[in-house]
Amino acid sequence: MGDRALAMGTFFFDERLIDDEQGRIDNEVNAFTPHDCADRSFVTSRLDVKCRCLMELDFMTKESQPSGPDLTSGVALTQFVDGKLLGHVGEQEVLLVQDGSEIFAIAAHCTHYHGPLNEGLMVGGTIRCPWHHACFDLRSGDAVRAPALAPLDCWQVEKRDNLVFVREKRVGLIQRGKPPTSAPEKIVIVGGGAAGFAAAEMLRRREFRGSIVMLSSDSSAPVDRPNLSKDYLAGSAPEDWVPLRPDSYYNEAGIELHLNSEVVSINARHVTTGKGDQVAFDRLLLATGAEPVRLSIPGADQPHVRTLRSLTDCRAIIDTSKTSPRALIIGASFIGLEVAAALRARDIEVHVVAPEKRPMERILGPDVGDFIRALHEEHGVVFHLENTVTAIDGQRATLKSGRTLDAGLVVAGIGVRPRLALAEKAGLVIDRGVQVNAFLETSATGIYAAGDIARWPDPHSGERIRVEHWVVAQRQGQTAAINMMGMREKFAAVPFFWSQHYDVPINYVGHAEQWDEIAIDGNIRARDCLLKYKREGRVLAVASIFRDLASLQAEVQMEDEMIQSV
Ligand SMILES: Cc1cc2nc3c(=O)[nH]c(=O)nc-3n(C[C@H](O)[C@H](O)[C@H](O)COP(=O)(O)OP(=O)(O)OC[C@H]3O[C@@H](n4cnc5c(N)ncnc54)[C@H](O)[C@@H]3O)c2cc1C
Ligand code: FES
Repeated sequence: MGDRALAMGTFFFDERLIDDEQGRIDNEVNAFTPHDCADRSFVTSRLDVKCRCLMELDFMTKESQPSGPDLTSGVALTQFVDGKLLGHVGEQEVLLVQDGSEIFAIAAHCTHYHGPLNEGLMVGGTIRCPWHHACFDLRSGDAVRAPALAPLDCWQVEKRDNLVFVREKRVGLIQRGKPPTSAPEKIVIVGGGAAGFAAAEMLRRREFRGSIVMLSSDSSAPVDRPNLSKDYLAGSAPEDWVPLRPDSYYNEAGIELHLNSEVVSINARHVTTGKGDQVAFDRLLLATGAEPVRLSIPGADQPHVRTLRSLTDCRAIIDTSKTSPRALIIGASFIGLEVAAALRARDIEVHVVAPEKRPMERILGPDVGDFIRALHEEHGVVFHLENTVTAIDGQRATLKSGRTLDAGLVVAGIGVRPRLALAEKAGLVIDRGVQVNAFLETSATGIYAAGDIARWPDPHSGERIRVEHWVVAQRQGQTAAINMMGMREKFAAVPFFWSQHYDVPINYVGHAEQWDEIAIDGNIRARDCLLKYKREGRVLAVASIFRDLASLQAEVQMEDEMIQSV
């Protein structure tokens, strides 16, 4: 796996080093998630010790000194390239950023997965991360857009004799303001996933003082779901890495989290769980996400036939993979193929059966489809395309072509469908998703929806769309939180998603269900390309491989178009 895929792994998890350092660091690292390390908003002195341990491991792993000049000794403005200069303060890498006449010193790595901010894009007093487009305020370090949820460290900067010196760390920079006096008392969130967690976190970040109850049918606290088909499944990230926050966070933040709590109905001002508990609300957020489509063929109900949505699903796949030298993936979707890549990393023989001619052609077009297929084949994946599985008898799967394949593990990645039953039962307006307005309000006053279930008016495409992207779900959760507090913020983010196959990341900005032209800049096979999906000459979406800056620029351009069209 390449640098990006391993960024988290090398930073937070290197078995050799952990072994070497076991005595010194003891179990501290194991009981700690990297999100703790990044999140200064709740770091206690105990956690800080762990942070430093992890940072030390990071530096040892790289076996090098932090990059660039010592910024405490002063650097000349002429050393800046494109308004940025990477250096260090002690052992911490620090990025100097020039924005007009001002200079800011910020931590050099994104608090999401450690992306290199010196390769990011500065936009109106912010910097955007090249990897998954998180956005940070330069002045305060605040994480203003997901997927990063924790702020960056910031340092004092002094300009003297044409030199820039970095001084002490700055604290208490983020001014939140007070929630409106009309803020409700009780907010209930149904769903403990991307949107639900981001909403709860944003409510507390914005100093909402009322009660927050999060009801989740999951058996684990909110997790980094995209990781379940990537590093964690591949075995390159430990399970400690998967929770979005440690269990203690919810108590500390005053978020009442109820796991294994399925909400079965919504009445005027309370929800009812399957256990019969009633929870009252003033504002309600529905963030029930999506569920995998299940196979409906004979033999699909056997224990080794799996789908992947939750941590429990992922653990079960890992367990089964330990005794299965061969896996069969049904469906060449993003998740199916990420699972294929992860299982190859575990040295399992992988076969993919899918009805389409090329993987991912519907979303990314034929050329990327051919590339993805070749990439997986280079890693030993065997495709059976334009084919389907008609039955699974024990470990033997029969294909439509008549061929049989033996596999001890079968993973169906044949799509997901939004979990709408609750919203439907509550009488909310449904339109292939829960219909919401620009403020993410449903058809019922006081009830909001976000994430995979929400169909919203997308200002860029001018259409009502529903997508299944991690970052969109988080950003919608954040906007819904702000609006539930009584403010009025439109959801206007350009959709973004990423997918990772071995060491190849694919980034996608915008939304194009249909296009009449794909303009390819660069070379897909050389893993250096930007594809524009156009309809009637207008760029609806942009996919890229290792063209991170251009992907960010495309996002900004789409935002500008939206502003102009208002
Ligand atoms: C394995 C995997 C990998 C992925 N990788 C990527 C990626 O790389 N990039 C990307 O952009 N997207 C990725 N996605 C998609 C992304 O994770 C989803 O778009 C995102 O999680 C949607 O967030 P959500 O909050 O709407 O739903 P979820 O995160 O699914 O959360 C829904 C929550 O609602 C709970 N729930 C449902 N019904 C009820 C009920 N009635 N009562 C109580 N609780 C309920 C569920 O238990 C769950 O906690 C991936 C998805 C999966 C499964
Ligand atoms: S690493 Fe920065 S957004 Fe993911």
